[in-house]
Amino acid sequence: MHMEQTCDIELRAETLLAQMTLEEKVGQLNQQPLTNDISALEQGVRSGAVGSVVLAYTPFAGREHRRDQTAQRERLQRIAREESRLGIPLLLGRDVLHGHHTVFPIPLAQAAAWDPALAGRAAELAAAEAAQDHVNLIFAPMADVCRDLRWGRVVEGYGEDPFLSGRYTRSAVEGFQRSTAISACVKHFLAYGGVEGGRDYSGVDASQRQLRSVYLPPFAQAVAAGTDCVMAAFNDVNGVPVTASAELLTGLLKGELGFSGIVVSDWNAIGQLVAQGAAEDRRDAARLAFLAGVDVDMCSGCYAEHLAGLVRDGVCPEARLDDAVRRVLRVKLRRQGLRPAPPARKEAAAAALELAQKSIVLLKNRGGVLPLSPGGPVALIGAAARQRRIHLGSWTLDGRAERTASIAQALRGRREIVLSCCDDPQRARRAAAQAETAVVVLGEPWDHTGEARGSAALSLSEGQLAALRAAAGSCRRVVAVVCAGRALCLSEAEQYADAILCCWHGGVQAAQAIASVLCGDVCPSGKLPISMPRHVGQIPLCYSQRTAARNIDSYYGPGDIASYLDCSAAPLYPFGWGLSYAAFSYGPVSARWSGDRLCLEASVRSTGARTAQEVCQCYIQPRGAGRAHPARLLRGFQRVELAPGEERTVRFILGPEELSAPDETGRDRLWPSYAAWIGGDCLTTNQTVFRIKDGWAANARGQKGCAREHENSHRPRQAHHPERHSGQGQGRRRVFPQQRGAGHTRRAGGGQLSVRRRHPLRLF
Ligand code: NOJ
Repeated sequence: MHMEQTCDIELRAETLLAQMTLEEKVGQLNQQPLTNDISALEQGVRSGAVGSVVLAYTPFAGREHRRDQTAQRERLQRIAREESRLGIPLLLGRDVLHGHHTVFPIPLAQAAAWDPALAGRAAELAAAEAAQDHVNLIFAPMADVCRDLRWGRVVEGYGEDPFLSGRYTRSAVEGFQRSTAISACVKHFLAYGGVEGGRDYSGVDASQRQLRSVYLPPFAQAVAAGTDCVMAAFNDVNGVPVTASAELLTGLLKGELGFSGIVVSDWNAIGQLVAQGAAEDRRDAARLAFLAGVDVDMCSGCYAEHLAGLVRDGVCPEARLDDAVRRVLRVKLRRQGLRPAPPARKEAAAAALELAQKSIVLLKNRGGVLPLSPGGPVALIGAAARQRRIHLGSWTLDGRAERTASIAQALRGRREIVLSCCDDPQRARRAAAQAETAVVVLGEPWDHTGEARGSAALSLSEGQLAALRAAAGSCRRVVAVVCAGRALCLSEAEQYADAILCCWHGGVQAAQAIASVLCGDVCPSGKLPISMPRHVGQIPLCYSQRTAARNIDSYYGPGDIASYLDCSAAPLYPFGWGLSYAAFSYGPVSARWSGDRLCLEASVRSTGARTAQEVCQCYIQPRGAGRAHPARLLRGFQRVELAPGEERTVRFILGPEELSAPDETGRDRLWPSYAAWIGGDCLTTNQTVFRIKDGWAANARGQKGCAREHENSHRPRQAHHPERHSGQGQGRRRVFPQQRGAGHTRRAGGGQLSVRRRHPLRLF
């Protein structure tokens, strides 16, 4: 945004603020859900008591089925603009996690495509569709790195790795906000993906190193990309609910990262502070959340009930109230652009198809059973083969199953099919006996992942496994197609299937994508964004875990010194894993300094018989300085397309940003030496080692500081920054600079209250 526009927005925000009553200010911070008593909501909007609306009726919006809201939204917005005193528009928020009418693959599947730019394009298309339905605030992307596969919300994020999640989060924010009419709300800050035991909403105990190296990076990327809004997480971190954590919200997010947009609570999270034991009552909850840095209260009503009183009583400074309202006004003023044009349905469908195809991961292909041969009949087995809704996944509030196809429909006409669309083993056996290849469709229903949808077993159903076993008993070539919202334990399926395609919940074009990969029109090129366990008892399981004291490959590699007695410690399939119908070989890694950046290179050659894409990955491991380090850290990736026999050099340039990692105090630093790998998955052995150049580290750290300064495009000018920290070390004190401007009067008690102007200036 240009400097002039920013100044104009700041000026208009100040002018508005100066005209607002205390109640109107609190109203801007009150976000309400849809309700059956719509006239009460309309009256709230008219009176200025409601500043934004969640376009959902229940806290579990991801499983909601109500439609018919478009006219209602338009009416609410019109009331805000035309009938409220100041004409301030509403934020109308909806969860558009992976598409609106056009449903794209679930975010976890998008990450398997290792193509953040394409995911960004999908976000842009989704935003344009949502805007037609009067949505102007999108509660996405979900930037929570997932460290426990049992957590049901793994479906909504980009997997286990902070670097990959960061790239996707950034692209999604940029995609959603490409239009000047839409705001993104990245969620859930912070560490929600680390909830104990994968139990939704529970607590997280995490060191500074863990918080900053694992959970923070995607949020830092979102802030750098200019996200308008950040949602605070439900969970506590080290015993302090994030909703009440001044350290995380004001210190880390608004202070250190320089986030100048809106911090919104999650649904009723402020009210829940009482249940968590953090607040004594709802007034105390409002006080805690507000002083911690939550600007907008989503659906608890605590701010509406108590905030004005808390300000009047001098418990909460009015300068903090002005800061919160200013944040809201800035976003509303910034997003007054024209609604984006509705995307052509064909274009959106083409993007959905490409993303679905790229997200499919070929986990196994014994004897090259895939692609299906053109001639022989195929037995298509399993109840999921005839289902359509399964492909949309959870959090698809506006998607329609009618717009998608089943795998059976998509394969019809391409191969001779013997259909057995149920999980009955007898019928599976009969169908498989008549076919050259049995394709067994397995997976989990769309509503088995999402909010409060944890899984303790992570297994396929017994019925599905029985059908697979039966098929394997009567057919020599068995392919398992797995449609799931998470990484399941596929050890048993792996014993019976010659090939396994991990197809996730792939969206509106999933079935066509699966058919094109099965038939070989498209070469699979997805790679796992999350480790696939053999057994649920291995969890937590993550490629970047710290190297163990014995067994160089830690618990994650192929070695077995550190294994469990009853199970190998290695994952069934590691992070970054994915096969192709072609094959690739990598040349040795070379490292050289280019100025003050490190350039890592390796050649990659296609040894297969067809043109195909490969996702080349670059990992590092810091070494030395008396610390145990993560076994590997992803620091770069590139998708390349190679014709048969073609060779290319892939190059990864690493600067201080990529080479530094936090120490135990959370401070980012460079380390004495590093190992680096380039290859096709996280267990590649294609390695080199290098040392940090003399004198480079100090320089590089300085540069990093500068880079941070530039990252935040919306950082307000000092004059408008409401809260500044003064002093250093122990004596840090919050300073609320006095606001000046029309409409402010000084209050006897020392706080500032605004006066109501008879003829307000309408600035929207
Ligand atoms: C609760 C969920 O945790 C959050 O992700 C979602 O955005 C809100 N509900 C609104 O639906």
